[in-house]
Amino acid sequence: MIIDGDVEHNGNQKTIGKIEATVDVIAAGVSGKSHPHSGVQSGGSNSGPPVPSGT
Ligand SMILES: [Fe+2]
Repeated sequence: MIIDGDVEHNGNQKTIGKIEATVDVIAAGVSGKSHPHSGVQSGGSNSGPPVPSGT
């Protein structure tokens, strides 16, 4: 099914498959594409993987 236009609903959403976005995904105000990490020093190394928040 393809829907043209914005979609919004009240309530939770769960999927068995993956969720894709060509632009970005914003979770509680945090961009999945571009966000800083705390507790790491800048440099040439990569940070570790994200830590689950338990929510
Ligand atoms: Fe991250």
